Amino acid sequence: MSESMKGMKRTHMCGVPTEADLGNSVVMMGWVQKRRDLGGLIFVDLRDRTGIMQVVFDEQSCTAEVFTKAESIRTEYVIAVAGPIVVRDEETINPALPTGTIEIKANELRILNEAKTPPFFVDDEQVADNLRLKHRYIDLRRPEMQRNLMLKHKVGGWVRTFLDGEGFIDIETPMLTKSPPEGARDYLVPSRLHTGAFYALPQSPQILKQILMASGFDRYYQIVRCFRDEDLRANRQPEFTQIDMEMSFVTEEDVMDLNERLMAFVFDRALGVKLKTPFPRLTWREAMDRYGSDKPDARFGMELCDVSDIVADSDFKVFASVVASGGTVRAINAKGGNNELPRREIDGLIDVVKTYHAKGLAWIQVEEEGLKSPIIKFMSEEQVEAILTRLDAEPGDLLLFVADTEAIALTALGQLRLHMGKRLGLIDEKAFHFLWVTDFPLVEYDAEAKRYVALHHPFTAPKDEDMDLLDSDPGKVRAKAYDMVVNGEELGGGSIRIHDTAIQERVFTALGFDHEKMWDQFGFMMEAFQYGAPPHGGIAYGLDRLLMILLGVDSIRDVIAFPKVQNASCPLTHAPSAVDPKQLEELHIEVVEDEE
Ligand code: AMO
Ligand code: AMP
Repeated sequence: MSESMKGMKRTHMCGVPTEADLGNSVVMMGWVQKRRDLGGLIFVDLRDRTGIMQVVFDEQSCTAEVFTKAESIRTEYVIAVAGPIVVRDEETINPALPTGTIEIKANELRILNEAKTPPFFVDDEQVADNLRLKHRYIDLRRPEMQRNLMLKHKVGGWVRTFLDGEGFIDIETPMLTKSPPEGARDYLVPSRLHTGAFYALPQSPQILKQILMASGFDRYYQIVRCFRDEDLRANRQPEFTQIDMEMSFVTEEDVMDLNERLMAFVFDRALGVKLKTPFPRLTWREAMDRYGSDKPDARFGMELCDVSDIVADSDFKVFASVVASGGTVRAINAKGGNNELPRREIDGLIDVVKTYHAKGLAWIQVEEEGLKSPIIKFMSEEQVEAILTRLDAEPGDLLLFVADTEAIALTALGQLRLHMGKRLGLIDEKAFHFLWVTDFPLVEYDAEAKRYVALHHPFTAPKDEDMDLLDSDPGKVRAKAYDMVVNGEELGGGSIRIHDTAIQERVFTALGFDHEKMWDQFGFMMEAFQYGAPPHGGIAYGLDRLLMILLGVDSIRDVIAFPKVQNASCPLTHAPSAVDPKQLEELHIEVVEDEE
């Protein structure tokens, strides 16, 4: 049975009152977190988004009707209580709670709604993910989830405040649109009025924000939903939110400077953390050579070293032949790793690099008594000495080597570096290490498609000094692109754009588009740029990823109220689902079942 709130008006939220409110009569409403029945006394923990207030029903001092009702309430009932705020008895004081020294001595109780026994309790520690998402309304009552989503709301506010102060204008762009190519599959929406035609949900507002620059808005931003039909990961959802911005008449430095200040503003407000600006800048080349990654985790050292020149003439055929065939031999020194890792574990490290297509892993264990290694017997004393010197080896260290093509050696060793950093406890989990990676290659060769593809998107401007290579050797052209990286995560990425139609045509040509195709797909944009487009550039962040970093959570689902699971479905609403055949008929769409 549920009762009405009539005549009762909430005066306080549950976590708000303090000892300053002692003696005041209050009315509070919320959910029953816990009920303890001690005979003539019933204690209830009343919860709302601000916290918990203890409510006590005392048979001696409240009416029999109220007391009987209090006996009937259960976990997750929604109730209203009234009474004075009093000091708790000594033995019920809870120093862990902000409201731990006070309670409401209830003289009135309304049951606003009953609740079935929940599939899990709000204070349960371990709940299976699918259960959490199916009953997301209960899961979202958990204080962590409330904290996460409230911080997300606040971050949005701080971003708006900061960008407003910098002269940015929030402009909406359509959800039913033509998608810019960000490299994922589009989500398509069929048009009822145009048989066989489809809108795409935006993978980002990229093209339209550039057109807004051509329209003279000078500085645009939007906190905007983006849609990408790609495989889900711990930090990827099919729909996610970007902090998206674009600026006119700027250089790479201008965009990076403004965004460092934005991050410093947000981190200061969210965590009281003062970020040191400017952030370090690494070219893509340096990032790959030193960390084996285009999003380096620079919270620890263990940088990669090139030892190709030392081992090129050695009798270790694997190394010598890789170098002879144009490959490379790279190494890391896992400092103290030999003291930490038993031999069995060292043998197992090969599995880490094999995941990234390396063919093998060689090592040298550096010990007081000498070296242990399967490869040094194939090397001269001088060669071994040179390796030890280059890697700054000391007793206790473990040196690890991968010989392969440059791409494989760097990536595999970069991943092994991360593995060893974690394994040896070198990562300060409390630190925020921001950096920029700049000067990315404009394009990369896609062996499957047998053509170059844009590393960011095709509107990224080439470096002026590399412009001559655009037609002859596009793989060598660097871009005016920058990624913001924190703790080994790509938080945002952007670039200075092409604003000159002739250059845009050359880039499309390098990407294998013929004239007709480029004008067919992107003609509206290139035409817009023929009517006076300013030089411009911008960036977009993953807001969800920013929250993951701020909160130190590992799953993007913990910062999104209603996320999708691995197979892109929603366990709460059961989307996607079949639709009425009539709806399909109107759209002239027929569903053909898969053969198997
Ligand atoms: P990009 O594709 O790098 O750039 O995306 C920008 C940022 O968005 C976040 N992000 C995601 N977050 C969660 N789930 C996803 N599936 C997902 N995909 C991307 C990342 C990423 O750094 N238009 C350009 C930006 C520009 O050039 O201005 C763009 O969208 O944090
Ligand atoms: P093998 O000559 O194949 O017995 O290899 C001798 C040692 O070199 C083993 O420890 C291998 O794991 C290692 N090794 C083999 N191939 C490579 C490679 N491409 N890079 C690094 N080490 C390798």
